[in-house]
Amino acid sequence: MYFPQELIDQVQQNNDIVDVINEYIPLTKKGANYVCLCPFHQDSNPSLTVSRQKQLFKCFACGEGGNVITFLQKYDAKSFVEAVQTLADRAGIKLPENYQSEYSKEKQDQKQRLIDCNIEAARYFYALLRSDDGKKGLEYFKKRELSDETMKKFGLGYSNVNGKDCIAYLKNQGFKDKEIIDAGIGVYDERNGLRAKFWNRVMFPIKNQAGKVIGFGGRVLGEGEPKYLNSPETPVFNKSTNLYAFDLAKASRSTYFILCEGYMDVIALHQAGFNMAVASLGTAFTPGQANIIRRYVKDVYLSYDSDGPGVKAAIRASKICREYGLSCKVIDMSPYKDPDEFIKALGRDEYQKRIDEAKNAFIFEIGVLRKQYDSSDPDANTRYDNEVAALLAEMKDEVQRTNYIKACAKEMGISESTLSDMVAKEAGKVRRFSEPVHEKSGIHEKKDDPNIKAQQLMLTYLAEYPSIYPQLEKIITPEDFTDETCREVAVRFFEDIKNGNASPARMVSMFEDEEIQNKVSDMFTGYLNGIEGREEKEAALVDIIYRIKANSLEEMKNSGQSVDPTLFMKKKKELIDIRRIKIQIPD
Ligand code: CTP
Ligand code: MN
Repeated sequence: MYFPQELIDQVQQNNDIVDVINEYIPLTKKGANYVCLCPFHQDSNPSLTVSRQKQLFKCFACGEGGNVITFLQKYDAKSFVEAVQTLADRAGIKLPENYQSEYSKEKQDQKQRLIDCNIEAARYFYALLRSDDGKKGLEYFKKRELSDETMKKFGLGYSNVNGKDCIAYLKNQGFKDKEIIDAGIGVYDERNGLRAKFWNRVMFPIKNQAGKVIGFGGRVLGEGEPKYLNSPETPVFNKSTNLYAFDLAKASRSTYFILCEGYMDVIALHQAGFNMAVASLGTAFTPGQANIIRRYVKDVYLSYDSDGPGVKAAIRASKICREYGLSCKVIDMSPYKDPDEFIKALGRDEYQKRIDEAKNAFIFEIGVLRKQYDSSDPDANTRYDNEVAALLAEMKDEVQRTNYIKACAKEMGISESTLSDMVAKEAGKVRRFSEPVHEKSGIHEKKDDPNIKAQQLMLTYLAEYPSIYPQLEKIITPEDFTDETCREVAVRFFEDIKNGNASPARMVSMFEDEEIQNKVSDMFTGYLNGIEGREEKEAALVDIIYRIKANSLEEMKNSGQSVDPTLFMKKKKELIDIRRIKIQIPD
């Protein structure tokens, strides 16, 4: 169920973002905007800025941003529909049922097809495991001591030795070749055509937060490389913002999650009654995953492998957890390798004991560090103390840092004030704590590309001063925006400006993906304030236009399509002229 754009507009117009956020977190006026402590990261200085004019919020420390609807989605972990409903109720607007938003509908339909394709594949693998062809798979799971109930709960399956069956089955269900490939179930190459990605493997369906299958992990039966094969990233399978068994852990209503490395670890833990266990998806734990977890629980227990790489991975994961305000403990599984083996050997009660005895992850980390220094050597001890102080100095939150200094001083056998002084000294050495903590996928990596930055700033200017549009209209068109999201926004935003009803907040709701919503918020809340005075702003705007046009021309040249040389020369000449144009910005 989705809503028409007019209705979403109406809901937003009747729920001023400043008033709504103020009901959750008290806002303070600062210049033209409002600020508060950001609820999306551990914030000690108000970094969340709310603009009444643009009806957007943006955290300049962690990068979260959006409109009033996305605020509720993020703050209350609501779905888009739930957030719209809450706001409609708040404003006394009655919502019709069974509508779809015109902008998201098509995209949504495409994604739904990919999910449906994965669900069908899961059904096929599931049935196969219980058929004659799947005997080997079933035996494998039995050998690993999984009960029928567990296999059912996790929807485990088997992919046939002959991969053709799976493709034939999906085609028979009405899926096109392209859909099967886009869903990550099929792969295509010139020689073999379309064939199954997974064959002769036991299959672990991976579900999204709503419990829908979005991808798979497939394990070889016994030895072989690669041990696990995972679905590729697809429009519906984002490995950095989903977790294995997250839907089950969420439903457990536990006050903490257990984070492991492997699918089999999660399954063994659930079978032993620890139904709050989750795992990352064949990659290291990501900030995006921490961000999802902290909406449900505040405590995370790490149950990583007890070998060297496992310990390293645990320390890395715990750092991410700490940055996101999650309290993190490390479960000691020695002498066993992983939770699966531990449970098999010692059983659930012993594991529960290990949970109860779990050590704070930072204390665990400095314990690991301690072993690298010779404690009988005073110089080594000094280096160790300094290294701990340096780690403490990295903590951005003051209260958190103070508490850790207290705990560590005790652990290290030195006084709190000594350690505190050392930390202050180290803090002087380390870079200022200004870098954003979010380093999610692709989008953020590309964020510093000056061409994309220019495209975003162009939109920031237009959001700030829509009245300059007529001066730009003849110079810049949406086609000049080479970044896909920027272009989609430009098409719509230019149109809205022409119709006299431009709303940056509306642009955010064009997109479903949380990271893209953040990116769109970036576009409209770029930092113009750093540029003093009207003339400087005008000069900066010309630079931006130049860069956008130059990049657009460059892309044209590189596109591989044949370009009319006279047109190209004409554009090149126009580019030179851009340096001489003058855009007037209102006071
Ligand atoms: N993994 C992967 N690709 C591999 C190996 C591992 O994606 N080639 C991921 C999988 O998600 C796996 C996790 O890393 O679940 C942990 O790997 P590992 O510790 O090697 O396996 P176990 O979980 O112990 O699996 P098993 O008990 O089946 O051997
Ligand atoms: Mn294992």
